[in-house]
Amino acid sequence: MVNQLEIRNLHAKIADSGEVILKGVNLVVPKGQIHAVMGPNGAGKSTLGKIIAGDPSYEVTAGDILVDGESILELEPDERARKGLFLAFQYPVEVPGVSNANFLRLALQAKKGEEVSMMEFYDRLQRALKTLDWDESILTRYLNDGFSGGEKKRNEIMHMMVLEPTYAILDETDSGLDIDALKVVAKGVNAMRGPNFGALLITHYQRILNYIVPDAVHVMMDGRIVTSGGPELALQLEERGYEWVKELAVTGS
Ligand SMILES: Nc1ncnc2c1ncn2[C@@H]1O[C@H](COP(=O)(O)OP(=O)(O)O)[C@@H](O)[C@H]1O
Ligand SMILES: [Mg+2]
Repeated sequence: MVNQLEIRNLHAKIADSGEVILKGVNLVVPKGQIHAVMGPNGAGKSTLGKIIAGDPSYEVTAGDILVDGESILELEPDERARKGLFLAFQYPVEVPGVSNANFLRLALQAKKGEEVSMMEFYDRLQRALKTLDWDESILTRYLNDGFSGGEKKRNEIMHMMVLEPTYAILDETDSGLDIDALKVVAKGVNAMRGPNFGALLITHYQRILNYIVPDAVHVMMDGRIVTSGGPELALQLEERGYEWVKELAVTGS
């Protein structure tokens, strides 16, 4: 079995309008590695994340997405979770009436396909809360209901830690996360780092990569990965801007 998340020649359009957004994305994240996808606004980064999550507003017209060698394109979002995927924007919605803890326990049971004892659940919760330096008050609140931007982000990372996915897709939406929220994301991701965890970190800015050092950086422009490199590529981008990559892509050097 190949232990990797593979995006293979992925083409996709918006289901409603038919507008083509992804034009042949190729990307491999081996299990155990953290890869960053960077790129200017409108490049298609968030769309890629949403398509991996199974968002029905997009239609895949060619290519494939494989988890450990198996295509997930035909799977529903919850089945994708059972294959070990975690998508940070899976539940950005506010769910009044459902407590954060209850939601998370159900999500964990759905993922594992079996009952999870209260003891095991609380054990996982305590570990996550400790790493994120958080108290239990967040557990009894309704999911995302009235959460601040920072709380939502921290909660998302807490869910990731409890669910222990094999591959996490995290979209650091370009709307300014403050530095504390960034550090929390970094703490959670770094705590997960290990041979059984891979992550795709989608980001517009380089700054989060000061806290999470990626194994590889991919640059996306106009629906394609135009260049890839090591962590130094993120710094070069910060210095020279995306125009520089455009030239690289054109000259092929
Ligand atoms: N559901 C949608 N409806 C209309 N346009 C969309 C939709 N999703 C993405 N787009 C468009 O596709 C392009 C890529 O968007 P996005 O993936 O959000 O880029 P990025 O995350 O790299 O900034 C943008 O031009 C955006 O307006
Ligand atoms: Mg985006």
